[in-house]
Amino acid sequence: MPISVPIRVPTSAKRNEVSIMSGDTTIKDAGTASGAGTVKNVIDVTDVHAGYVSGVNILNGCNLTVAPGEFVGIIGPNGAGKSTLLKAVLGMVSIRSGEVKLENEVITGKKAHELVERGVGFVPQTKNVFPSLTVQENLEMGCYLKPSRFKDRLSYVVDLFPRLGERIDFRAGALSGGERQMVAMGRALMLDPSVLLLDEPSAGLSPALQDQCFVQCRKVNQSGVAILMVEQNARRCLQVVHRGYVLDHGTNAYTGTGRGLLADPNVIALYLGTLAKSTGGH
Ligand SMILES: Nc1ncnc2c1ncn2[C@@H]1O[C@H](COP(=O)(O)OP(=O)(O)OP(=O)(O)O)[C@@H](O)[C@H]1O
Ligand SMILES: [Mg+2]
Repeated sequence: MPISVPIRVPTSAKRNEVSIMSGDTTIKDAGTASGAGTVKNVIDVTDVHAGYVSGVNILNGCNLTVAPGEFVGIIGPNGAGKSTLLKAVLGMVSIRSGEVKLENEVITGKKAHELVERGVGFVPQTKNVFPSLTVQENLEMGCYLKPSRFKDRLSYVVDLFPRLGERIDFRAGALSGGERQMVAMGRALMLDPSVLLLDEPSAGLSPALQDQCFVQCRKVNQSGVAILMVEQNARRCLQVVHRGYVLDHGTNAYTGTGRGLLADPNVIALYLGTLAKSTGGH
């Protein structure tokens, strides 16, 4: 049976700081999302079956929720359907049955551009910047639906990622992998999304830059944006998120707080491998 555990977070819930320095083996609780209250979820995925080719389902009954301000991670083996799940939320893959809701409204079958307009930001794993355009031009592209908000959104993005302010006239293709990832996230934040979908933001980065990337994701989340993040770096992912889902063969295998999943012997044995074993999960 797929497991889904919607959470209700008291507005007074305090978030603990998270430590994700390279090589750090101390797992501090990522805490809970603040300001969520009992407000409707930003995203509800209910029993979704979906696939690319007729008659072949990649997702076989996925269930997932993201509360306002929550940071949710999806981990799982290669080919489990993690990216497909993000694409299903964003209307980029056919949903055969089940339902996706955005702030309580059914959005199953809506097109990606409509959803972006309605507050869903998406950062794909690859080709997520325009390399020949400058940082500023990339951010302008992110704001094309609401150009009048450009100045205001630019200052928010540069506050979050001061490095982008320093590199504003550089071509994105000339930046480091970590800086390009900031451009990609910044671009997706230009439309002031209520939820950001991130597909493997740390992929291809050095260990130090991966840590920086997770710190940035936390920063974005702490600025009030809910995040649904797919990650291949399962252990780091579970350290920074409030809640996580383990996806296997297109269905939910395990669900819990990031801390709970890190300590779960089945999750350790099946999905976290020797790295998690060596830290004992706690
Ligand atoms: N555009 C596509 N057309 C047909 N099949 C696809 C397409 N994209 C993905 N698939 C198939 O769907 C399955 C799940 O792929 P998906 O990319 O969702 O997995 P994933 O969990 O994100 O894996 P990874 O960790 O490697 O990124 C795989 O068997 C893959 O071959
Ligand atoms: Mg993927």
